[in-house]
Amino acid sequence: MATFFEGESHTFSEYLLVPGYSSAENIPANVSLRTPLVRFKRGEEPALSLNIPMVSAIMQAVSGPKLAVALAQEGGLSFIYGSQSADDEAAMVREVKSYKAGFVVSDSTLTPDMTLGQVMEMKERTGHSTMPVTDDGTSHGHLVGIVTSRDYRPSRDDRAKLVSEFMTPREKMIVAEDGTSLKTANDIIWDNKLNQLPIVDADNRLVALVFRKDYDSHKSRPDELLDQHKRYLVGAGINTRDYAERVPKLVDAGADVLCIDSSEGFSEWQKRTLAWIRENYGDSVRVGAGNVVDAEGFRFLADCGADFVKVGIGGGSICITREQKGIGRGQASALIDVCRARDEYYEETGVYVPVCSDGGIVYDYHMTLALAMGADFLMLGRYFARFDESPTRRVNVNGSYMKEYWGEGSARARNWQRYDLGGNKKGLSFVEGVDSYVPYAGPLKENVDNSLLKVRSTMCNCGALDLAEFREKAKLTLVSATSLVEGGAHDVLLKDSSQQVNFRS
Ligand code: IMP
Repeated sequence: MATFFEGESHTFSEYLLVPGYSSAENIPANVSLRTPLVRFKRGEEPALSLNIPMVSAIMQAVSGPKLAVALAQEGGLSFIYGSQSADDEAAMVREVKSYKAGFVVSDSTLTPDMTLGQVMEMKERTGHSTMPVTDDGTSHGHLVGIVTSRDYRPSRDDRAKLVSEFMTPREKMIVAEDGTSLKTANDIIWDNKLNQLPIVDADNRLVALVFRKDYDSHKSRPDELLDQHKRYLVGAGINTRDYAERVPKLVDAGADVLCIDSSEGFSEWQKRTLAWIRENYGDSVRVGAGNVVDAEGFRFLADCGADFVKVGIGGGSICITREQKGIGRGQASALIDVCRARDEYYEETGVYVPVCSDGGIVYDYHMTLALAMGADFLMLGRYFARFDESPTRRVNVNGSYMKEYWGEGSARARNWQRYDLGGNKKGLSFVEGVDSYVPYAGPLKENVDNSLLKVRSTMCNCGALDLAEFREKAKLTLVSATSLVEGGAHDVLLKDSSQQVNFRS
């Protein structure tokens, strides 16, 4: 006979924080959000920490190289998605590790035989009006020209016109050699009154573009997350099947930390994967595991040597695991239990294994609640998918800009490894995620700054200046269903209905 699980199953929205005493010291500018990323022993410093408690989800629609750079610049970290070949994933890791501020790898590259109609579609999708033209249409193909918005008139020109007819051809372009410093590139831009300068290698392959505006924009980034060679930190997702092939490629590409990407982590597969990594790399390769939703699952993965443990089953915005399989647990209760287990484990063993709350963050205040409940850092998918830097298309849906966002267990991602325990001989399968739109929200930096200002200011209301103090001082209260109504605007007629939406992050 089945037993009843003793724990509860509440979600973030069922909780609030009761403020504590805040002194004059408690102002957002004084708050530190630095947090450990990997396990460490009592009295020692963690080998890797984050400067803000945010990582981006291991998903095709979220964590590509561009987002990884933008997030590392703010102090967080991306896990490049593993639902692609090991070589492609390693190439993305390499792109982040070789990123040089101011040198932009184009994500809107054309071929000479594309049409003006296709150019305009690409502009709409990416928001970029400068598009290099290469022989094969890749961002590292041989450079044959460039198109900017000054090269065509959208309302008058024939949409069937070919790029080769209106682009500025290579022979008329000013370019600089690979290895040119940003300062020199900028001098060339100014001396020649350019808006951008393509950088090419000795074989005339496109390397990057330097834009006039970028020279000023990468001023000081006090929180940026760098390794000892001043390269951005980046993580990468792995699975429990092809690790023997994938892990060496990712390590070789320079991945700073790995994470087993699985919807259910309390398994022998994860134990074997962790053991293989320890056998082959000792502690020099850091790897998180998950997902679990209770103390037993946490202890299992901590004992197996996981560097951090991810919590959450079924709470993700695109996730239909609970509907399809009937497993999961309310994210808040799962997190509270696992964080308690982490603290007990630390007491007993002197080893601190950080906890990551994965999925289900809908409002900015959910981030604050998750940190108060004990999460060391948060993994977010929907949140980051909405930004310029996510790898997905921006589309116009009924007059509003949207970004596409699909689950790793959706038919679109076809990442069955994450959602299939194997042994399915008949080729049967079912989806655990949906394909969707999320409202486009602009650049990552603006949004992250704004969300974290809210987190910092609530921490001040609770009298805390860092995350450890916050966990200690936070007083959580469960709210009744009726008081939930009181939490939003109510009994008034909103002049602008978008005010309701603005509450969502
Ligand atoms: P979100 O931040 O609420 O959008 O949740 C993101 C998280 O959902 C990811 O980090 C994964 O743990 C989880 N996830 C991603 N794809 C799927 C899926 O297709 N089904 C179920 N969960 C998913």
